[in-house]
Order: sequence, then C-alpha cells, then structure tokens
Amino acid sequence: MTNIKGKISGTGSFLPEKVLTNYDLSAMVETNDEWIFTRTGIKERHVASGEKASDIAARAAGEAIKDSGLSAKDIDLVVTGTVTPDMVFPSTSCFIQLDLGLRPGIPAFDLSAACSGFLYALDTAERFIRTGGAKHALVVGVDIFSRIVDWTDRSTCVLFGDGAGAVVLSATKGKSGILSSHLYSDGKSWQLLYSPTTIQSSPFEKKGLRHDQPYLRMKGNDIFKLAVRSMSKAITKALKESGIGADDVSLLIPHQANIRIIKAMQERLKLPDERVFTNVEHYGNTSAASIPIALNEANKAGRLKKGDIVVLVAFGGGLTWACSVVRW
Ligand code: UT7
Repeated sequence: MTNIKGKISGTGSFLPEKVLTNYDLSAMVETNDEWIFTRTGIKERHVASGEKASDIAARAAGEAIKDSGLSAKDIDLVVTGTVTPDMVFPSTSCFIQLDLGLRPGIPAFDLSAACSGFLYALDTAERFIRTGGAKHALVVGVDIFSRIVDWTDRSTCVLFGDGAGAVVLSATKGKSGILSSHLYSDGKSWQLLYSPTTIQSSPFEKKGLRHDQPYLRMKGNDIFKLAVRSMSKAITKALKESGIGADDVSLLIPHQANIRIIKAMQERLKLPDERVFTNVEHYGNTSAASIPIALNEANKAGRLKKGDIVVLVAFGGGLTWACSVVRW
C-alpha cells in the first residue's frame, strides 16, 4: 500500500436555467405545494429544456477545474456517474473531454449506479490515484431525470430535478483526503426503483420481452425505509472503521431525495441541524448530481474548513448505496 490518497482539490456545479415550482406542477398533475413540501421538503427543481447531460456536466466540471487552480491539460482521468447520458455511446465523459479541451488519450468513461453514481465514481477515481494511474481526476455526477420520469404520475414526477456536480480529485501524501469509501448493492430489490427505457425492438425479439412503460417506477414507501436504514448503517460502519465518532463529524452531506429521509438519519446519528447540509428544497432529487452539487455549495459557502470531517452518503436504484468519509 502506498500512502497516496485522493483529495478533493476543486468543486463545481451547474443547474439548467428553467425552474419548475410546485405551483407549476399543480397545473400539470393532481398535486399541490402543501403536499409536496410537507412530504418531501421540495419547493422547486430545475429542468433541462434542451440542455444535454454533457452540456451541464461540462459547465460543472469546468468550474471544478478552475476552483482547483489547475488547467484542463492537468486532468488525466474522467469518471462520470450518470444513468441519463446523452447517448448510449460515446460516454458522457468523452463529451466532457471534448467540450473542455482535456488532453486526448486520457481514460474517460461513465458508470451506472443511479443516485449513488457520484460516490461510485469518486471511489473508482480514487483507486486510480492510489495505484498511480492518475494524478488529477475529474469526477462528475450528472442526471436529467426530466427525460425519464412519467410526467402524468404525481407520485414520482414531483420528486426529481436535473443538475450536474463535479470535483477534481488530486493525488496527495498529506493528511486531507478520502479516509474511507464503501460501495454496496443489492440487485434482488431492483424492482423497487427502476427505469426500463431501452432501444427500439429488434426484428428478432420475442413478444413480451419489452417494457411497454419506459418511465421511472418507484415503490416510494419501501425505498424510503430502505434508504434510511441502509445509509444510517453505512455511516455507522464507515465512522467505526475510520476510528471517528459521530461527534467528530463536521458536516454530513447526504443524498438529497427527501427531507424526511435526511431528518430520520440525522436523528439516528444524533447530529444537530448545523452539521447536516440540505438543499433539496431548491433542486429536488437530482440523482447522481445531488451530492456534488451540495458539496460545491457547502464549499463555496465556507462551510468546509481544512481538517473538517465530511461524510458523504447516497442511496438509489440498483439498489445501490455508498458512503465516503473525507478529511477536508
Ligand atoms: O434517490 C432515492 C430514491 N428516492 C427516494 O428516496 C424517495 C423515497 N420515498 C419518498 O420520498 C416517499 O415515499 C414519497 C415522497 C415518494 C411518498 O411519500 P409518502 O408519505 O410515503 O406518501 P404515500 O406514497 O404513502 O402516499 C400518501 C398519499 C396517497 O394517497 P392515499 O392513498 O393515502 O389516498 C397518494 O396517492 O398521497 C398521495 N400522493 C399525492 N398527493 C398529492 C402521492 N403523490 C402525491 C402528490 N400530490 N404528488
């Protein structure tokens, strides 16, 4: 084992311009601001109106590179967590490489872990760094769920928003950096949250193989309970293994899906409000973008000081979940 690890050296985020409020939604489906806000904590979300995943991801990534003080030519790896790429291929990462003028020849690829996509990407990039395969990795989380939700289904369409977030992860021998990272999955419960959108049927397909409903589907109550349980357990395990007490956590940055999920976790961990970051009110659930957007906002608001212990935790389709402990 080397003593090299990955340290977040820059952060960025970007939201599509169009804002869709709960009031706007109540003109589209049988819902109202009171129901959405009390059940989820969401007031508004941003939705793409022409922007592609790579467009908003490149804006977030460009900000992260600028924030790190590096330049495009220093980036030697791009990993993007997304389940709503522009195309089946090329990857979103290749489009980001093109848009930002990153060096040709560097590895660039996407990975699919739904709402846990950013933490999966962060973990993957860090393994490149620890083994000497990269020095400055661009790690991106981006999703455009407005293209996969059923806009006639009030039980899901009110929950999601579009967005992108990114960090630069740089090799360091110093004390700051990723202290631990754990990734989890459980394919047997995939039907609790999925989006079956597939390519057009082939002439060889048997009848009944394809889903006639391409939209995102979710069993909200089951996901709610599993999210609270899995993320709380993942945090407890991560802190224990890092030899850190809950009292030492400066800021918890959880996946922003529902304020009630965040509050339930917070209660289990006995963390006061000022040590839990939330912005779900303004963006809804932006899937893989949720944690890097929150991280960037916390960073730019001066809420992360050198030496702070920051805990990142996510849960989503797959099922997948993940937790990273970072010393800022
Ligand atoms: O990234 C990870 C993935 N996502 C999550 O973590 C989300 C997890 N789940 C949740 O956040 C919550 O389960 C929801 C917000 C989705 C639902 O909240 P809930 O308190 O579990 O409500 P419910 O599904 O039990 O629905 C309660 C009622 C139902 O009516 P009846 O059957 O009681 O008459 C629904 O039909 O609320 C109704 N309802 C709505 N009413 C107004 C469902 N959606 C809406 C709506 N507006 N948008």
